[in-house]
Order: sequence, then structure tokens, then C-alpha cells
Amino acid sequence: ELDTGKFIADYVAEIRNAVADGLAINALSGGVDSSVVTMLGHRALGPRLRTVLIENGLMREGEPERVRAIFEQLGVKVEIIDAREEFFAALKGITDPEEKREAITQTFYKKVFGRIVRESGAKFLLQGTILTDVDETVAGIKRQHNVFAQLGIDPQATFGYEILEPLIRLRKDGVRKVGQALGLPVEMFKRIPFPGPALAARVIGEATPERIATVRQATTVVERLLAGTGAFQYLAILHQDRVTGMRQNRREFGQQIEVRCWDSTDARVAAPTRLPFDLLEQLAHEILRDVPGVVSVTYNIATKPPSTIEAV
Ligand code: XMP
Repeated sequence: ELDTGKFIADYVAEIRNAVADGLAINALSGGVDSSVVTMLGHRALGPRLRTVLIENGLMREGEPERVRAIFEQLGVKVEIIDAREEFFAALKGITDPEEKREAITQTFYKKVFGRIVRESGAKFLLQGTILTDVDETVAGIKRQHNVFAQLGIDPQATFGYEILEPLIRLRKDGVRKVGQALGLPVEMFKRIPFPGPALAARVIGEATPERIATVRQATTVVERLLAGTGAFQYLAILHQDRVTGMRQNRREFGQQIEVRCWDSTDARVAAPTRLPFDLLEQLAHEILRDVPGVVSVTYNIATKPPSTIEAV
């Protein structure tokens, strides 16, 4: 059983000891993990923690501003850094899932954080890697974008800074408990998981600005309609294959959206939620209505394993 009070005291002390009288950069995405790290780092370092949110062009509708507003209420200043062009340039022409993840890792850690850390004189980056990220990466299932030491990568030598990962022994359920104990609002510590590579993990094939815009619109519908289910995670995926459809009595060789909704406790295994058929029909109706170019909507009924939660 996790003692959240002791956990918080231990890691606040650990961050303070590591950073000493220096500065640290904190990588906030707005997900549960990086939000909890932000609160821990803020307690440990106060104004010596500089919290940045990288707008990579792959986030959900309105996400950067929403996250900044929530943290401002908590007394934490968040800088939004616009790196959209760099991310789309790095993703251009890439279709292979692992190459896509590698391009995102390099852009985040080498280019964008590398620059921010150098310019600020900080020696540390705080980030919210959790045990599940490490497990799947080490098992060779999926290279999570934020795992280094366990792959034999030395961040100091590769990127020019040390990485602090206070949540590395926790899984999602533990992270949520710590978040609650740290005073995060319930809409933050109960947020559904969202991957570091963001919507790029939800387009099969190339992540162009147009294709990301399509999956973003579908995500808005899916999150609106499935928020009340209490499911572990729900998402929309844009497929690469086209299918024949029709709109206004004309042939439209259109795109396909797959909806996934998962029951799980820690993301290691998961099963599709038994959604009522009425709700599935409403999902189809609103996605076809709101997302241009989409003529097909499917619901995933496979379990993890052998499926994974995200598509890429
Ligand atoms: P998969 O797709 O491997 O995902 O079943 C398991 C959980 O991890 C999330 N996920 C990621 N999180 N970086 C992250 O921080 C990543 O690269 C990444 N890929 C997947 C996913 O949303 C699910 O909750």
C-alpha cells in the first residue's frame, strides 16, 4: 500500500538534494504524470523550477491554454513554447511507428529541451516517466518516448542534462493517489491517460498537420461522448486505408476513424468497454457529422494483448 505522505516527503527531499541551489526545467504536458511531477517539483524548488509546456502541434483542441489556466490557479506559472514547425518537420515523410516515436523523442529531448536547458543554465529536466512506460520499452513492445536509462542511454551525454523521474516506480493508479494528496484538482488527477507522442500515436501512417487536425476533431467527439463512461481510456484513431463512401449522393473515397474505449486498471492489460449500442451509434453520427472526409467509423473489440492501447 502506497503511503502518499511519505512518498511526497521523500521525493521533495530528493529533488531538493539533487538540484541543490541550481535551476531545473520541468516538462509539463498536462497529463496526470507530468502534472504530479509539476506539483512535486514546485513544492521542492518553488521559483527555481521553470515549467514549460511544449506546443508540439499534436495536442488536443485547446489543451495548452487549458493546462496553463489550471496550473495558474494552483500558483504555478507555465510557459507555452511553440515548437509546432519543428515537430512537423521532423515527422515529415515518416510512416513507421517506431521511427515516428524516435523522431518525436529527438525533437523533444535533443532539439527543444536541449535548447531550453542550455539557454537557462539548468542542469536538470524533471519528467513524469512511470513504470508502465519502462516495462513496455524494455520488453521491446513499444518504445515510449520518455525512457532512456533503462535502454542504456545516458541523458547527460546524449542531450546535455540530467533527468529526474520521481514517478519511476509507480503505475497510473499510484500516480493518481499522489496527485490527489498533492492537491491537484480532481479533473487533473482523474484525467484519462494520453500518450507523450500525443495525437501522432493515433494516426496510422504520416502525421501531417491535416491528418492530425482530422484525428483531433474525432478526439473531441469521442472524449465528449465517452467522458461519462468511467472507462480507463478512450480515443480515436485515423486509419491510412481509404474506403468508398457517399455524401450527398456522390461517391467519396473517404477516411476511416476507429474508436477505442478501454477498461483497465494499470494499462498492462485492457479490454474493450461494453458500450451500449445507442452510444456507438451516436459516436458514429457525430464523427461523420463533425469530421470532414470521414465516411467510416468502427469500434475496436480486441483486447490488450495482443492489441495495445494506442495504435502506433
Ligand atoms: P500502449 O499503447 O503501449 O499504452 O498499450 C499503454 C499506456 O501508455 C500510454 N502511452 C504512452 N505514454 N509515452 C507515454 O508517456 C508514450 O510514448 C506512450 N505510448 C503509449 C497509452 O496511452 C496507455 O495509457
